[in-house]
Amino acid sequence: MVGSFACEIMRIGAADLLRDLDLTDDELRRVLDLAAEVKRNPAEYRSALAGKSIAMIFEKPSLRTRLTFELAIKQLGGDSLLMDGPVGVREPLKDVARNLDRWVNGIVARVFAQTTIEGLAEWSSVPVINALSDLYHPCQALADMQTVRERCGELRGLKLAFVGDGNNVAHSLMLTASRLGMDFALACPPGYTPNPDIVAQAEALAAISGTSLCVTEDPARALGGAHAVYTDVWTSMGQEQEAGMRRRAFAPYQVNEELMALARPDAVFMHCLPAKRGEEVSDPVIESGQSVVFDQAENRLHAQKALLLMML
Ligand code: CP
Ligand code: NVA
Repeated sequence: MVGSFACEIMRIGAADLLRDLDLTDDELRRVLDLAAEVKRNPAEYRSALAGKSIAMIFEKPSLRTRLTFELAIKQLGGDSLLMDGPVGVREPLKDVARNLDRWVNGIVARVFAQTTIEGLAEWSSVPVINALSDLYHPCQALADMQTVRERCGELRGLKLAFVGDGNNVAHSLMLTASRLGMDFALACPPGYTPNPDIVAQAEALAAISGTSLCVTEDPARALGGAHAVYTDVWTSMGQEQEAGMRRRAFAPYQVNEELMALARPDAVFMHCLPAKRGEEVSDPVIESGQSVVFDQAENRLHAQKALLLMML
């Protein structure tokens, strides 16, 4: 335990958060509890990162992740330094990591390839946090679970349905929901299924939790009984050249009023944002009273504060 705050802060065992499973089950629950506490009581933590500097590397665009990390670091009394553009082009990745290691107390990185963030962690001794890679978006999943808990209460026994691309956001959600006792179902077209190794990991976690995990082509099967319906863009950053093909493949998977009606009547609609209205979600759904997308965006701030407090 560290610090002298109203809520004792447990240090995370793993040096880095490169993937969701770097947090133990217990640490995952504690991050969510601390996120709720810092949201209630932000002033308590205003100098928790005093004297600490965190480098933020963004190889891809960002609104939410970049600004909520900057704001979180500022509101915790630390400093952030931004570096955008590709890493490992002007000089080797291992040299970038070893430079940063001499200057800063932590690294937050949004990268194209998971191997890049793994290289940063390998070649530096400071905590490295994955701010989205091709495989995972762990900070998003934390904020999302905080949001579902606020809206729906105890997570155990709830069902989260994801309709769309079996990609980074879906991977992090399935790993996290399965550990927290939620049933998880994903509907996607053939050819856009999640990574089989990550599905196998999530299935193993679901078996331990006694929950169900299903990957299907049938949105109705995924949505039946869902307390939360989640979608993400059909074309992720870096896949722009596939946009036309993806629009055709995903057309039956748009979360519109017809699809929402297949979930529980009180289901919340979730999206990591940015959203493409008219593609993965219809305008009436994202603008409806069921939509919690801006709560998710707000909770990025609180969940990342909790993570920074527990890792730094
Ligand atoms: N949800 C999310 O990560 O948003 P940004 O791409 O704007 O950071
Ligand atoms: N799957 C999306 C998520 C953006 C937050 C992407 O990788 O572009």
